[in-house]
Amino acid sequence: MSFFELCVKRERRRFENICESEKLASRGILVAYADEIDSTNAEARRFAMGGRCDVPVLFVAKKQTAGRGRLGRSFYSPADTGLYMTLLLPIGDLFSSTVGLTSAAAVAVLRGTDHLTGGRTQIKWVNDILLGGKKICGILAESFLENGRSYAAIGIGVNVRTEDFPEDIRQTAGSIGGIRADRADICERIVCELYDLCMGLERADRSFMEEYKARSAVLGKRVSFGSGEDMREGIAADIDGDGALLVTLDDGNRVTLNSGEITLRLK
Ligand code: BTN
Repeated sequence: MSFFELCVKRERRRFENICESEKLASRGILVAYADEIDSTNAEARRFAMGGRCDVPVLFVAKKQTAGRGRLGRSFYSPADTGLYMTLLLPIGDLFSSTVGLTSAAAVAVLRGTDHLTGGRTQIKWVNDILLGGKKICGILAESFLENGRSYAAIGIGVNVRTEDFPEDIRQTAGSIGGIRADRADICERIVCELYDLCMGLERADRSFMEEYKARSAVLGKRVSFGSGEDMREGIAADIDGDGALLVTLDDGNRVTLNSGEITLRLK
């Protein structure tokens, strides 16, 4: 067996044993691993429906057959080359918006992968992480009420070594790549950061937003948003403490975007 094959084998074994992670256990996070699942976000929701849950639970899958993205899109989730996971957190009523949770998750992904990317990743508001202009990660944060308890389900999909993307995303999707990229290690780093940031959010600590802004791919750039006949353009001027994007329109008016999608303009 070649050195490369040995590394791949070891990486797979570590990933399939992520339930035994001491780093995650040290934060009281329970881990559920599946070789194959429809969607880790859907699984987190089903779990919460099944009965009251008072501890954080991480759902991790080797492959998703119906990975979900924002705005009804799918998330390509082939086996072995990506990291697909959802952190289910029991939360208080005064917790952050899903935009705030998405922003925390974006910063957690940057921190958890900077050792591999050299800090070159950027955040495309609100939920995409780009490397060299290509999307290497998507985030789907949802919040819901089940059996009288509020939960956040923060789903993160990272293209770790995926190379062969379907035609419709071939031009826009990318991967971290490299032999050092280890899914179990990336998972632990991202989830520990995310958990700590979410605990901070419960105390209204949004100081990570400075980091978010410093790594924004859109601030100061021309963006368009809206749909159909109602498309508008302006400059992405700022991101507020809740993660909302403030856009200065060409007529000088300011709009605040809390959700939806923007397109970066090149002119
Ligand atoms: C997006 O790109 O719009 C968000 C993609 C989020 C994908 C992750 S993969 C793990 C979790 N389970 C899902 O079904 N979706 C999220």
